[in-house]
Amino acid sequence: MTRCDCKTGAALICESCAVGSSVCRCRSCLISRARAAWLPEGGCVRCKLHSGVISQVFGDGDPGSRLLLLGEAPGEQEDRFTAPFVGPAGQLLRKEARKVGVDLGEVDLRLAPSVTKAANTSVSVGATCIVTFGCAFWTNTIACRPPNNRQPESDEMEACTPRLDMIMAAIRPRVILVLGAIALTHLTGKLGITRHRGYPTGSRWTWKGETYNIPVLPTFHPAGLLPGRLKRDEDLVLFRQDIKAAYDLAYPDGWSDV
Ligand code: URA
Repeated sequence: MTRCDCKTGAALICESCAVGSSVCRCRSCLISRARAAWLPEGGCVRCKLHSGVISQVFGDGDPGSRLLLLGEAPGEQEDRFTAPFVGPAGQLLRKEARKVGVDLGEVDLRLAPSVTKAANTSVSVGATCIVTFGCAFWTNTIACRPPNNRQPESDEMEACTPRLDMIMAAIRPRVILVLGAIALTHLTGKLGITRHRGYPTGSRWTWKGETYNIPVLPTFHPAGLLPGRLKRDEDLVLFRQDIKAAYDLAYPDGWSDV
C-alpha cells in the first residue's frame, strides 16, 4: 500500500487492485476527476441552461465530509461566484446551523469584485469570494441557474443527474440533508416537504454497477425561511432541529476541521 499524494493524503492505494496505484480513489481525487469530467473546458452543454449562465456550479466543500447538503439550483449569487449557497439562503442556513452548534462555514462577499456576464458565454467566469463550507459538501440538483430562478425542469435535472451520482459516489456521505421539495422529489420520489421534513428516509441509486443506499433527512429550503417569506416562526425552530439531527447522524462523535 502507498499513500496518495493528493492534498488530503488520506487514502491508501492498493497496488494490486483493479485500478492500480496510478489512479487514486480517495474522495478528494474522485471529486477532482468528476469535476474535470463534468465541466470540460468551454463548459457543460448537456442541457439548455448553459447558454444563460455566468458559471456552472458543480458543488463544493470538503470531499471527506460525512454530510451532503442537496439544494435545488444555483441562484444569482451562486451563479456570480461559482459556489453553492453563498447568497441569502445559504447565509441563513449557516446562521441557523451555528445556533445549534453546527459549523457550515462562512460567507463573505464584501471583498468580491463585481462581475458582469460576458455575452454568449457559458464558460465559468466567476469572481472570487470568501467562502468556507464547514462540515458538509454542498451541491444542487442542477449546476446552472435557471432563468429568473424558476424551478428546474425535468430534462435539466435528468441531464445533470450523472454529476450528482458522481458526487455521491465519491463522497459516500453518511446522510444527505435535502433542502426543499424539488431536491426531495428528485432524490426520493416523495412529494411535499412539509409532510416529509424531519422524517429520515432512504435514497437508493446505482452508479457504475454499484448500488448506494444513503439515509436522507428532508428539511425546508432556506430560501422559504428568509425574512418576508417565513410563514411561521416555528418553522425556523424545526429547520434548526433538522440540521442538528442530520449532523448528529453524520458525525456521532462530533466534527472538527483539523
Ligand atoms: N438555492 C439553492 O437551492 N441552491 C443554492 O446554491 C442557492 C440557493
